[in-house]
Amino acid sequence: MNIAIDGPAGAGKSTIAKKLAKELGYVYVDTGAMYRAMALYFLEQGIDSTNEEAISAASDTVDISIRYQDGEQQVILNDENVNDKIRREEVGNMASATSIYPKVRTKLVALQQKLAASTDVIMDGRDIGTCVLPNAEVKIYLTASSATRAKRRYDELMAKGEACDLAAIQQDIEDRDYRDMHRETSPLKQAEDAVLVDSSEMNIDEVVAAIQKICQEKI
Ligand code: DC
Repeated sequence: MNIAIDGPAGAGKSTIAKKLAKELGYVYVDTGAMYRAMALYFLEQGIDSTNEEAISAASDTVDISIRYQDGEQQVILNDENVNDKIRREEVGNMASATSIYPKVRTKLVALQQKLAASTDVIMDGRDIGTCVLPNAEVKIYLTASSATRAKRRYDELMAKGEACDLAAIQQDIEDRDYRDMHRETSPLKQAEDAVLVDSSEMNIDEVVAAIQKICQEKI
């Protein structure tokens, strides 16, 4: 059994998928973390995001794997656990910019498909229902308005005591949406058989309940 959750940045995919995985006893696979780990490697190597040749060559040699520690996914980049490092805004933007390249995607899609073949997973990302797990039993397209997503991110950063600007966050989110939706290889889009959930006016528990209902109906 596999559940695919796709959607734009900041729609709440990982929060919701983690909760659902716990309730259903599935393994949660965060595919964005894999693109981020690769992006971190490119940043550390000083490779420019527009240099496809260098990025393709580097993605051939880099080693990315996944481990689980107390039920939490850990991303290992060349033997180093990079879970904390990959959460930076700079790494997210680099991941969005470098996930356009076929070499990067082919390598990570293979890793994702291998994980899903061995156990029941809830996997979130941008191309899970359309490309990675086209036969997933349940497909969800989780979205929210860019204003809502920006406000959630703003509140998160403020709660951490980090200075930020709401308009700049919204612009960043809209730029990322554009890149993720308009790239040539596996762009972000709703799979034909995915159910749309718009969380703009919903809290976390309401979204979890809505998706659980969809799962019950489908399974
Ligand atoms: O979900 P996230 O913000 O951690 O993802 C970071 C970037 O990685 C996202 O902007 C696009 C890319 N990505 C992708 O292309 N395909 C996926 N399945 C997951 C993420």
